Amino acid sequence: MTAAQLLAYIAVALLVQVIAGVAFAVWRRPSTAGAPAPAGIEDVVAAPGPSSGAWSGWREFRVVRREFEDAARTQCSFHLQPVDGRPLAPYQPGQYLTFSLKLPGGAAAASVAERSITRCYSLSDRPDPTGYRITIKRVAPPADQPELPPGVSSGYFHDRVHEGHVLRVKAPSGHFYIDPDANVPAVFIAGGIGITPMMSMLLWCAGEQPERLVHLYYGVRSSEDHAFKRVLEDLAAAHPAFKLNVVYSRPGADDLVERDYQYVGYIDLALLRRTLPHGRHQFYICGPPAMMQSLVPALREWGVPADDIRFEAFGPASVRPTGPVSNEPVVATSACVDVRFSRSGRTLTWDGQDGNLLDFAERHGLDLDSGCRSGSCGACQTRLASGVVTYVERPDHDIPKGHCLLCVGKPQSALVLEA
Ligand SMILES: Cc1cc2nc3c(=O)[nH]c(=O)nc-3n(C[C@H](O)[C@H](O)[C@H](O)COP(=O)(O)OP(=O)(O)OC[C@H]3O[C@@H](n4cnc5c(N)ncnc54)[C@H](O)[C@@H]3O)c2cc1C
Ligand code: FES
Repeated sequence: MTAAQLLAYIAVALLVQVIAGVAFAVWRRPSTAGAPAPAGIEDVVAAPGPSSGAWSGWREFRVVRREFEDAARTQCSFHLQPVDGRPLAPYQPGQYLTFSLKLPGGAAAASVAERSITRCYSLSDRPDPTGYRITIKRVAPPADQPELPPGVSSGYFHDRVHEGHVLRVKAPSGHFYIDPDANVPAVFIAGGIGITPMMSMLLWCAGEQPERLVHLYYGVRSSEDHAFKRVLEDLAAAHPAFKLNVVYSRPGADDLVERDYQYVGYIDLALLRRTLPHGRHQFYICGPPAMMQSLVPALREWGVPADDIRFEAFGPASVRPTGPVSNEPVVATSACVDVRFSRSGRTLTWDGQDGNLLDFAERHGLDLDSGCRSGSCGACQTRLASGVVTYVERPDHDIPKGHCLLCVGKPQSALVLEA
């Protein structure tokens, strides 16, 4: 080989290396679509970003297994696999799936032949490329109105969705997920079925960051509705960095402190102050309205920065606490403005009485699509022909330009809505 040939070979080899390096760097860069993905998590769960899924719209999933997670058999897990057999969208631990259910008359209401409803359910397992798991609590009528029908979707899942059943599912989404910085201890606070996103985050931490300090405060009534009991106890036994704090509000006669639970009562600031070590923590909260409404402001008053408090509401009642916890400006008008629903041919006057445009429209007899009623599922998304709609909190659902979410939006000016 001549010196000139050797030089040419070296030059080509160097060029190939440079091209490969650039290609690798581009491939590794986190997605900028939607909210920024937390740095580092892509490495572990190969998630391209919280709101970018491997599919858009609805995809069919088959239930391959179901199992109860509590002694009372009110919380049931459903294991799902895609019917098309293609790879699954990765997700951030803490995100949820959105389901569209076609309910036969009997499951919805006796007077209705068939109708579709939309509901969200958190992924309750660590990300796994072979399948998803959700866990659903059967919802009873409110204690003070036992004559009302029980929860439609949760009842449908428990009573009618068995192995082999095919469901229509939207890709994982949501902004409530674990920060992958292993140096910051995480505090998961779950009330009742609010344990589901915590299970996903907790199992992910145990697998990927076993040294990370993680505290779980899990409030339930008694051992009867204590979900994932064995899994949590085994995790705590195997991982010294995982601190399990189970709080029963009404322990059963056979429930034993230290064996079944650690504290009696409710999870409150006093308990956290008494039991958490000093130093910075990141708090993740999901539970019933009373818990969210008391704990989030209490943590802020205690001096926890807003950025270190993350929470998820499972429904409209949990209405994301407002005020100091919100980073977003609260700009909602209470002045009277006209809201025109162009498809329905109605113009109504917003007088500030209602919490959101969906409640407002329904109070006036309009029948509009809705699902989660908390800005998560997109079922109430409506084209906004003119005007400005504001939100107290940034909704989970990414709203396309020229659209709005009725369930969490309020008018800031006169509106024309294509609904
Ligand atoms: C992001 C997100 C994640 C979620 N993750 C989970 C999860 O992991 N697991 C889980 O179990 N749930 C989860 N949820 C909640 C779930 O989406 C449903 O809201 C829940 O299952 C209840 O739906 P349902 O159709 O069964 O009840 P609904 O039919 O919506 O009824 C809700 C309640 O209203 C009562 N009711 C019925 N009629 C009336 C009436 N006329 N007036 C007043 N009240 C009435 C019912 O008795 C019931 O108590 C999540 C929600 C969100 C937004
Ligand atoms: S009803 Fe789910 S986003 Fe409005």
